[in-house]
Amino acid sequence: MILSALISPLFYSAVIINLAAVLAMAAPSSAHNTHRADIPVNYGMVLFPGFQALDVFGPLDILNTLSFTYPIHLSLIASTLDPVTTRTTRSSPGSNFSESVVPTHTFANPPKDLEVLFVPGGLGTRAPEPALLDVIAYIKETYPSLRYIVSVCTGATLLARAGILDGKRATTNKKAWGEVTPLGPNVKWVPVARWVEDGNIWTSSGVSAGIDATFAWVSAVYGEAVAADAANGLEYERHTDPSWDPFAAIWGVPGSSSSS
Ligand SMILES: *[C@@H]1O[C@H](CO)[C@@H](O)[C@H](O)[C@H]1NC(C)=O
Repeated sequence: MILSALISPLFYSAVIINLAAVLAMAAPSSAHNTHRADIPVNYGMVLFPGFQALDVFGPLDILNTLSFTYPIHLSLIASTLDPVTTRTTRSSPGSNFSESVVPTHTFANPPKDLEVLFVPGGLGTRAPEPALLDVIAYIKETYPSLRYIVSVCTGATLLARAGILDGKRATTNKKAWGEVTPLGPNVKWVPVARWVEDGNIWTSSGVSAGIDATFAWVSAVYGEAVAADAANGLEYERHTDPSWDPFAAIWGVPGSSSSS
């Protein structure tokens, strides 16, 4: 009885099917296919007046590239559905140099099932706080259900004011260090860092550092091959060492080599 089962073709096909199922389950954790079955689908970017353009479009253009391969969704979330401008009160009166982005959602009516939230910085993060209360409140209430949050530049101060960086390691823009780190008195600010990863919170240094941080995040979540392919497609030379940071010394950040 057992012997006949062993040699029956049906038995062998069952073994092959089971083997295929086992291999399919194992595939996501294999070196060539990191986390592929578990990659995020729903991305969000918050916007507020005076956001820094590259803080938004550096990370987004990397994700734009990923969207050629992966079915991912983007929500652009702001106070209202009106276009949000990069213009700030510090713009010279004779200049109208600015760009606007059209949101898809508001903080009052945000997207459901968001998995990854990006938070840009910019001079707008230093606006009088009433203008920022809704974005700070949104970060605070959304963070617990997120898989990842990634801030660029002074976007870290919005995370700090939402309370989600308390006791965590984080970094921010080095030129603005003295002005913005007091906004997060309970944050373990890292003075020399291109970016910092603490749990599911990624914070990057100033502006262009958001590109390196996003590539590092893509490498961690999608696998290094995907990050390298996207960087080569964008012809971008990455800094892959999170402690690479000449700007801390240039701006005299306390704790960097140039500070006393
Ligand atoms: C800036 O002003 C010029 C001249 O009035 C106008 O043509 C242009 O559309 C303005 N640009 C923006 C971004 O508002």
